[in-house]
Amino acid sequence: MKVLLIGSGGREHALAWKLAQSPRLSKLFASPGNPGIAAHAELVDIAPDNIVGFAREENIGLVVIGPEQPLVDGLADALRAYGILVFGPSAAAARLEGSKGFTKDLCRRAGIPTAEYDRFRDAAAAKAALPRFGLPVVIKADGLAAGKGVVIPTTSAEAEAAIDEMFGGQFGTAGAELVIEEFMTGEEASFFALTDGSTIVPFGSAQDHKRVGDGDTGPNTGGMGAYSPASILTPEIQTQVMDRIIRPTVDTMAADGTPYSGVLYAGLMLTDDGPKLIEYNCRFGDPETQVLMTRFNDDLVTLLADVAEGRLGEIAPPVMADRAALTIVMAADNYPGPPVKGGRIGGIDLAERDGARVFQAGTAMVEGQLVAAGGRVLAVTATGDTVADAQSRAYAAVARIDFPTGFCRHDIGWREVEREAGRVA
Ligand code: AMP
Ligand code: GLY
Repeated sequence: MKVLLIGSGGREHALAWKLAQSPRLSKLFASPGNPGIAAHAELVDIAPDNIVGFAREENIGLVVIGPEQPLVDGLADALRAYGILVFGPSAAAARLEGSKGFTKDLCRRAGIPTAEYDRFRDAAAAKAALPRFGLPVVIKADGLAAGKGVVIPTTSAEAEAAIDEMFGGQFGTAGAELVIEEFMTGEEASFFALTDGSTIVPFGSAQDHKRVGDGDTGPNTGGMGAYSPASILTPEIQTQVMDRIIRPTVDTMAADGTPYSGVLYAGLMLTDDGPKLIEYNCRFGDPETQVLMTRFNDDLVTLLADVAEGRLGEIAPPVMADRAALTIVMAADNYPGPPVKGGRIGGIDLAERDGARVFQAGTAMVEGQLVAAGGRVLAVTATGDTVADAQSRAYAAVARIDFPTGFCRHDIGWREVEREAGRVA
């Protein structure tokens, strides 16, 4: 089968690496891809409007859509209209990520545990509602804002300023509507499920590190590292998440005539009252995919095609290896501000010598030299018997990489390492 992968990040490198191992694969294309993906796929740079035409011309058997934007924009629908198999939800189903208000309303209707909330279209009404939520309060732009559309003010003045900025166009049209939420406390974890619209199977857990600095300090990023599994998501809690959150979501989407097909990535808060939904993503996580794919040892082409064909109920559920995996993001200096571009990167072969994998994200090949070309540049990934073991292997690999204009956090996985050592509950 010929497969076309859409995207260019570390997530897509991990997917390409795994897709390329499938005996079912005859040829992998990636658009636009990156220099790391080029080791597994032919890179093509297809304009969004031409993807359907390319897929038809090349007789593509499966299109795998990595990022959220093309899903929200309806790429899966456009392909399906021509009978092309797609892994990824329709635009209507991708509203679970594309509109926070849509998801909150669905939770309310289906009785899914989540933070109390209200939706607002004007600043005066939003400000008037603030006292109801107390402090800190959570204010979110409704639409896609590249992971930046959430603020958690601790004073009323900050909250009012945030409301004015969002309605003032800080996040463009994503901020034309706001959601204000109750602040939840607890530990965060990510849970992944594959669904074809009716059958649902768990597909691993992970925890990431959103702040740029050691000790969870500094501004938020797309994610500076992750590990899987997240032991805090015990089998019992995973059952609660499936029964109270994922199953009612998938059933409600189906009942509404907008069935969800693809991967459903639930951001969860583990509160004293049980797991609650923070948000959904309609695609795999980045860098969570780098650890999930490292633990998944089966045929990814077949699995994703089975999801796309609605055959999940007919196959054995996918299995993740018992081993732990941990990934460390190496970012370009100044990230998450405008990153320093053009810095030379060396040592990837050395880093991979003992079994680690270096997935590439914001890289470019310039005159035969690999250089930094984005914020998050590499995701250095290793497995181990425990998260602590995976952590030491991943940092050993990082030490072999020569990337003078890059940096990483030095404590990825700390929470789990402490737990494994019995130092925290
Ligand atoms: P989101 O983009 O919705 O995942 O939000 C980004 C981050 O904001 C989450 O990972 C949480 O750390 C935090 N967050 C979002 N909603 C809440 C909430 N209701 N209570 C506490 N923290 C939240
Ligand atoms: N790592 C967070 C995300 O993929 O949204």
